[in-house]
Amino acid sequence: MERILLCKPRMTGHEIDYIKAALAEDWATPLGPDCDAFEAVLADFAGHGCHVAALCSGTAAVHLALVACGVSRGDEVMVQSFTFCASSHPVTYTGAQPVFVDSEPQSWNMDPELLDKAIADRVNKTGRKPKAIIPVALYGMPYRIDRIMEVAAKWDIPVIEDAAEGFGSCFNGQMLGTFGQFGVLSFNGNKMITTSGGGALLCHSAEDRRRIMWYATQARDSYPYYQHSAIGYNYRMSNISACIGRAQMEILPEYLAHHRHVQKLYMEQLADVPGLTMHTNPWPEADSNFWLCTAVLDPTMNVRGQEEAYNKVVTGAVGGAAGVIRQTESAITDCQPNTNVEALRVALDKAGIESRPLWKPMHRQPVYAEAPAYVNGVSDALFRTGICLPAGPYVTDDHVRYITDCIKAAIF
Ligand SMILES: Cc1ncc(COP(=O)(O)O)c(C=O)c1O
Repeated sequence: MERILLCKPRMTGHEIDYIKAALAEDWATPLGPDCDAFEAVLADFAGHGCHVAALCSGTAAVHLALVACGVSRGDEVMVQSFTFCASSHPVTYTGAQPVFVDSEPQSWNMDPELLDKAIADRVNKTGRKPKAIIPVALYGMPYRIDRIMEVAAKWDIPVIEDAAEGFGSCFNGQMLGTFGQFGVLSFNGNKMITTSGGGALLCHSAEDRRRIMWYATQARDSYPYYQHSAIGYNYRMSNISACIGRAQMEILPEYLAHHRHVQKLYMEQLADVPGLTMHTNPWPEADSNFWLCTAVLDPTMNVRGQEEAYNKVVTGAVGGAAGVIRQTESAITDCQPNTNVEALRVALDKAGIESRPLWKPMHRQPVYAEAPAYVNGVSDALFRTGICLPAGPYVTDDHVRYITDCIKAAIF
């Protein structure tokens, strides 16, 4: 059987038609009519009067949202700690300092009460308000956006929603990314839809979108020559990438339904496994896209091969991760998933199934050792006990049966 990946991109077959039409008209350009059309279809899907700026990545979208919020050297930005590094790294690109906020146990996302206390403490300690708040829809799960918006309104701080993993997820029927001042989407190869690499920023006014695109296209002033009154970036989406996105948008509703179906199958088939708990919508308002399906393992649960976990140094990237990985000499760090989680990952890997521990919280990353963090133990505990399971459009009902059988066979 072909290896089952966490979320492998799947083409509709129409991508090539859009690309051929674009190439026939020589639209192998940065920006272009397919970018315009892709933005229009995204705006229509998001609703709520959103304007969309198509960009080269979700990371670029986070960065430009920060720039547009006026974040610069010496500022602080409140960021959900339990996330992928692209939520917080762009804060450092601006010279500002990320201040990490832990999660609440229901959604695993930013804890609004802790956020409120953390802001009060930052104001007390620094005499200045943080410049932005970044909650993250982890694995697609909605954050408690109603309470986060209340805290943001109380302190008058803009919210940048990192919905890179949460495209199509809703809170109270409203799509994530449309509540805050800006909403980040990613079309990386492993996301709900792909443009092979790309992202978008949801904005609430044409003026905000225009400002974002100004920064995304090197911030040029209106002279016959290139004159710059601000530092800009080359963060445009390529027109050919947008062709892929246009075709992918045709199938998005089907993919959303499929991810939710796969989640339902896992829930049914793993319901009777003692010590394993699937993560699911915690409130009636939450409607996750279940980008990845996730579970936590009780520390007392026994998994075959547990005694060998972390015995060997990992070489290269675990799973399907691309890119260059710095080789380390040690198999362990001071904060890592429990041995039963690592043993399950290895057992699934041997069975041809990609799985992954949950994101290691940013306040535990060596690179952020000096960053202020407001923690409550929730993300630490989730990191030690959690695992992500495959959920993409290529995952069939038979695959889920095979994966859940492998999980059951691995535990004793
Ligand atoms: C939470 C989160 N934020 C931001 C990003 C950045 O998106 P991209 O890979 O398109 O730069 C990703 C994914 O890669 C993500 O998972």
